[in-house]
Amino acid sequence: MTYQSITVEQRDAVTLITLNRPQALNALNSKVLEDLIAAFAAYQADDGQLCAVLTGSGDKAFAAGADIKEMSEKQAADFYLDDFFAPWTSEIVKKTRKPWIAAVNGFALGGGCELAMMADFIIASDKAKFGQPEIKLGVAPGMGGSQRLTRAVGKSKAMEMCLTGRMMDAEEAERANLVVRVVPHETLLDEALKTAKTIASMPPMASIANKEMVNAAFESTLDQGLVMERRIFQILAASEDKAEGMSAFVEKREGQWKGR
Ligand code: CAA
Repeated sequence: MTYQSITVEQRDAVTLITLNRPQALNALNSKVLEDLIAAFAAYQADDGQLCAVLTGSGDKAFAAGADIKEMSEKQAADFYLDDFFAPWTSEIVKKTRKPWIAAVNGFALGGGCELAMMADFIIASDKAKFGQPEIKLGVAPGMGGSQRLTRAVGKSKAMEMCLTGRMMDAEEAERANLVVRVVPHETLLDEALKTAKTIASMPPMASIANKEMVNAAFESTLDQGLVMERRIFQILAASEDKAEGMSAFVEKREGQWKGR
């Protein structure tokens, strides 16, 4: 598959996807969306690929938002009739059942912050900056920022970020639980790939199941989430990897996973 606005590499069982429009600070236009949908679908479909990392090219930005030049030409009816922004969640988030990490290497603003928050977790460089500056353009978040940022950092901080458009640096993002950890800029990719490699070494079906369970905490009541957790546990208990994982522990050796 040839991509125009991203690059995709496979490093053993880890897929590395890089947003590649550095001249526009990796702004997210329709071509980026089309490429990302294809890249995530390929990652999901490839049984040999077990974790993915998404990052931005260049030293400055993960992604500085949805492409303002592209959006400036659209009318309200275009946004509404095309259900603009819907595929980011319906085609990427919902269809990617395997884990993926956002490695945020600089500005993650507007749609860029929202794309990072679609990942299962974020690792940030100490140069990362997060924000939802859409209000300054007379609009508001459109790819999930008002919902995912609020769930991640709580109402007060999310409200302030959306109402002022201010940026949050990496240290504040870590304190606010938006990112799992901050690492020196030069080591970001290595750290993200190392974490992805650890995830890729886990039993693949259990990996999907763990992701599904944690996500359920945001979309169900506690009782519903607990029932779902128990049912998934019970399903995993019937897997070959459960038998192998427990035998390997008892026999003091590494497990050999079948993914079933
Ligand atoms: N869309 C299109 N192009 C963008 C862009 C964006 N979101 N962000 C940056 N660029 C382009 C600039 O136009 C510029 O291109 P030219 O060289 O052709 O002029 C190039 O990237 C470099 O940008 P700057 O010269 O502005 O770089 P800077 O270092 O001075 O500033 C910045 C960096 C503070 C991130 C600034 O670029 C900026 O404020 N960008 C816009 C951020 C923003 O508002 N994002 C939200 C977009 S709306 C959205 O995302 C809606 C949604 O919820 C989905």
